[in-house]
Amino acid sequence: MKKKLYIETYGCQMNVADSEVVASVMGERNFEISENQEEADVILVNTCSVRDNAEKRVWGRLRHLNSLKKNNKSLKLGLIGCMAERIGDEMLEDKVVDIVAGPDAYRDLPYLYDKAVEGADAINVELTIDETYDSIIPKRMTEGISGFVSITRGCNNFCTYCIVPYTRGRERSRDPKDILAEVRDMLKNGYKEVTLLGQNVDSYKWMEEGSNKPVRFHHLLEMVAQEDPTLRVRFSTPHPKDIKESVVKMIAKYPNICKHIHLPIQAGNDEVLKRMNRKYTVEWYMNRVEMIRKHIPDCSITTDAFCGFCGETEEQFQGTLDMMKWVHYDTAFMFKYSERPGTYAAKKLEDDVPEEVKGERLTRMIDLQSKLSMESNEKDIGKIVEVLVEGPSKRSADDFCGRCSQNKMVVFPKQDAKVGEYVRVKVLRFTQTTLIGEMVEKIDAPTM
Ligand code: 5AD
Ligand code: SF4
Repeated sequence: MKKKLYIETYGCQMNVADSEVVASVMGERNFEISENQEEADVILVNTCSVRDNAEKRVWGRLRHLNSLKKNNKSLKLGLIGCMAERIGDEMLEDKVVDIVAGPDAYRDLPYLYDKAVEGADAINVELTIDETYDSIIPKRMTEGISGFVSITRGCNNFCTYCIVPYTRGRERSRDPKDILAEVRDMLKNGYKEVTLLGQNVDSYKWMEEGSNKPVRFHHLLEMVAQEDPTLRVRFSTPHPKDIKESVVKMIAKYPNICKHIHLPIQAGNDEVLKRMNRKYTVEWYMNRVEMIRKHIPDCSITTDAFCGFCGETEEQFQGTLDMMKWVHYDTAFMFKYSERPGTYAAKKLEDDVPEEVKGERLTRMIDLQSKLSMESNEKDIGKIVEVLVEGPSKRSADDFCGRCSQNKMVVFPKQDAKVGEYVRVKVLRFTQTTLIGEMVEKIDAPTM
């Protein structure tokens, strides 16, 4: 009899990819994925520590999941991901969970489960310098169209506010052969889009034995793009200090590499950027944007930014708003600074921007971005965009939705289109988050 595994995933795309690695590791040891937490033998919660509110949500979930033990005495509850790395030992001690596995310890999960069943301490939060989950083909949990493949793990940048280098350890690149094997596996399973993932994709680097020239990110992008012209390729996340012209040229060269770059700015003031240890200036960032626009005039540029970092003055915050306007981001993820224990900022800088000021600044950022997103979408009226059909739209069963190359959501009446096909859509209307249009024709593969 197979045991049943239920996985719940929070946080970034990397966690989504990791949950599929976990499903594969467990699948080889007699576990099958279950959609039903009530009948599970083990529930694993893959967690994020990037901000305090991400962790608070997980605490709430764990309380609920623990209550399932009343009717399911043999249920084991496991904490994996960044929170496991950060505070898993305490949570095991306090019996909030039965199993704890950090991001580099997923091969150990079946063993940790057995230990938990025996009633022993089941924890592995060792970080390694070389675990990349080679030779594990992730088990895709959805019959999807679009999926993730991680190309690097960990991060060496140590932005002063960020917990990731502590929870995910040092940066390492994966063998291109393993990456391509995963991409082929996705193609075989009907996937039409892959997003290559890394904390800083530009630092991807692989030395083939016997060769003296490394495989860099732009080479890898090309290898994946050439795998199949009907496979759309995306990636996340480049770092402004490292993004290279060679990468941007590669995006321009292949119609199946999407014309979208997510380029986290974080803040728009040199002093703040310096305190964040971002290693670029506003001027440098502007130069990168100009470089992108020179090669790909229709490239969408999106960002992450947060307000209220240690010592941020009103004037310095204005710099962030100014940059948002200057770049005219298509969309942005915006946050308030949240101090993370153990980081440089937590140890050495004062979290001195009052909560109300953080809140008020965040509102101003969100209001500005709403306007910018509206303007960006308005500009698309009358344009033809190429959409990968993902499924029925949320609002109406008569409509399909899918993303265009620029990563905007597009909604249009179904007609004879099918999920997984590429269609050209003429944009007629828009909202802040969606382009609305009409299908013009089907195409075999992306062309622009
Ligand atoms: N507080 C607020 N936002 C943060 N981010 C990372 N660390 C913090 C923090 N301590 C944001 C950054 C990053 C995104 C994933 O989360 O904008 O790009
Ligand atoms: Fe954090 Fe910087 Fe690494 Fe991004 S690149 S995860 S912001 S340390």
